[in-house]
Amino acid sequence: MDIFSETYHVRGVHPESEFIADDVNVQMDLYGRHSRFIAPMYIPSPRKIGSDKAVNEVMVDYLKSEGFPIDGFNGDVTTLRGAVAAHKRTMTSQHGLDFSKLTDDQLTADYHYNIFPNVTFNLFGEQMWMFRHRPHPTDPDKMYFDRMIFNRVPKGEVAADANAGAVDLFVELGEGRVEGRPEHVFYRYGEKSSGLLLDQDASCLAGVQKGLHSRGMRGLWISHHERRIRNFHHWWEAYMADEA
Ligand SMILES: [Fe+2]
Repeated sequence: MDIFSETYHVRGVHPESEFIADDVNVQMDLYGRHSRFIAPMYIPSPRKIGSDKAVNEVMVDYLKSEGFPIDGFNGDVTTLRGAVAAHKRTMTSQHGLDFSKLTDDQLTADYHYNIFPNVTFNLFGEQMWMFRHRPHPTDPDKMYFDRMIFNRVPKGEVAADANAGAVDLFVELGEGRVEGRPEHVFYRYGEKSSGLLLDQDASCLAGVQKGLHSRGMRGLWISHHERRIRNFHHWWEAYMADEA
């Protein structure tokens, strides 16, 4: 739960991300037990912005991979987010995705939520990543991590399942198979890649978990940038005390 709650680790763990997302000017919101951050994308970390404010090469490659017409863009990193949002809106009719109820910021930022106690999700204009963090039944040093990726589906391409209501966009095919919904795949850490970002995050976890058992461990030094972690543990301790 903790590692998804801050962008303080980005510089060390996800060095590529600094070129395409701002890990410093991140809004943090605490809603009691739940919390959120809003990390601007399509603008690099302030550490990666040169005096000419030019769009860096990593960003250019990322924009190309998303189909943004970078060759026709004459602005710099300060005007890029607006241009990307405008481009996404022009693509609405082609992709069949309705962005009319989303702000430019929602189209160009990572909206990350913690739903207490064990669900986190990243919201984008086109998709949502939802992570469910489940404890192992007997070993507190192990856990299950459920990764679910939800892509928005263009209107008219799929029919709603009458039994599931309007929120279920998939079609039952019989024998429990559901079109468009991939099979649940179960694997252990290291057996299979979970994508660059999550592999980078996961590579730190075993060491951190070992460190928690160190005789030198007296508690965590948590910076202001990590206040969502402080908030989570404040409520978590209260919640566990109540259970006891
Ligand atoms: Fe991370």
